[in-house]
Amino acid sequence: MGKLVVNLGERSYSLLIEKGILDQVGEKIRDIYNGKKLVIVTDEHVNKHYGNKIAENLKQCQYEVHRIVLPPGEETKSFQMLTEIYNQFLDCKLTRSDLIVALGGGVIGDLAGFAASTYLRGVPYVQIPTSLLSQVDSSVGGKVAVDLARGKNLVGSFYHPKLVLIDPNVLDTLEDRFFWDGMAEVIKYGCIKDVALFNELKGYQTKAQIMENIEQIIYRCCEIKKDIVEKDERDTGERMLLNFGHTLGHAIETFYQYKKYTHGEAVAIGMVEICKRAEEKGLTASSMVEEIKELVTQYHLPYRLELADITPVLDTIQLDKKNINNVLNVILLKHLGQSYIYETTIDFFKS
Ligand code: GLY
Repeated sequence: MGKLVVNLGERSYSLLIEKGILDQVGEKIRDIYNGKKLVIVTDEHVNKHYGNKIAENLKQCQYEVHRIVLPPGEETKSFQMLTEIYNQFLDCKLTRSDLIVALGGGVIGDLAGFAASTYLRGVPYVQIPTSLLSQVDSSVGGKVAVDLARGKNLVGSFYHPKLVLIDPNVLDTLEDRFFWDGMAEVIKYGCIKDVALFNELKGYQTKAQIMENIEQIIYRCCEIKKDIVEKDERDTGERMLLNFGHTLGHAIETFYQYKKYTHGEAVAIGMVEICKRAEEKGLTASSMVEEIKELVTQYHLPYRLELADITPVLDTIQLDKKNINNVLNVILLKHLGQSYIYETTIDFFKS
């Protein structure tokens, strides 16, 4: 089993990464929670595959199990749904000494985490991420949030889970498109911090080959993320490196109203496009665009923005919450595995 500890003093927690670990979910939770009541927050898709199995396992470990099943999709990450969740917490008389279990992808993790951070001013919670994207990124590091009509993740907090249980076997039920979506974030880790990981990824030709090595791939991504979070929990410095490809990626997602591209697809385009501009300005090694383009293509991800005029996409960058007083911190690569923060303005993208 792969075990990592995010060292944050009294807020430290473990990430356990192992195929089949969900068969021991009750036992693992018992190690960090000695109470009786817990409530699983999940969505209809994940519930269909894993809800009963996990609830039964928890009951066998003597837990009183409640379950909140929400509609799937980004629309669920709303204030309206949050109120619904709080009401269901009240219905099952959840107190601060009970536990919330977020079982799902990024939407559920962010939403249940935010509900946990705010209900009764904070209830402990556990993350069980079920998409590759959430296993390598959003379940680690304590960022929780809901969306507003004017943008994603605009209301949130930093609130760390007590435990993260990562079972790569759940990826078997993930649609291929969302598997490759998660691999975009894996590629990002190679780009920003680990050339060996990037080169290893070049060697895998199929999903089956990746799945044979998935435990150690997820482990490495989580290790990179936990190192960064330990140094910069509140996202004021090094943590921004995780945004490589994201400034443009978020703008692309917003421009297409989250319909045309998945998050990972938009990030893949963002990584290539940012490197293109950095290459033109001599701010990155000259091979970056070709290297990343080849790998994202191998992983069934797009790299080109199919728009004659990029201006409307750039307009949405100006509304991004990370664009403060027209200063943009974009992430560039010196070369593969070495990234840096570059302070610029929107004009950087207007080449
Ligand atoms: N997903 C980026 C971060 O956690 O900072």
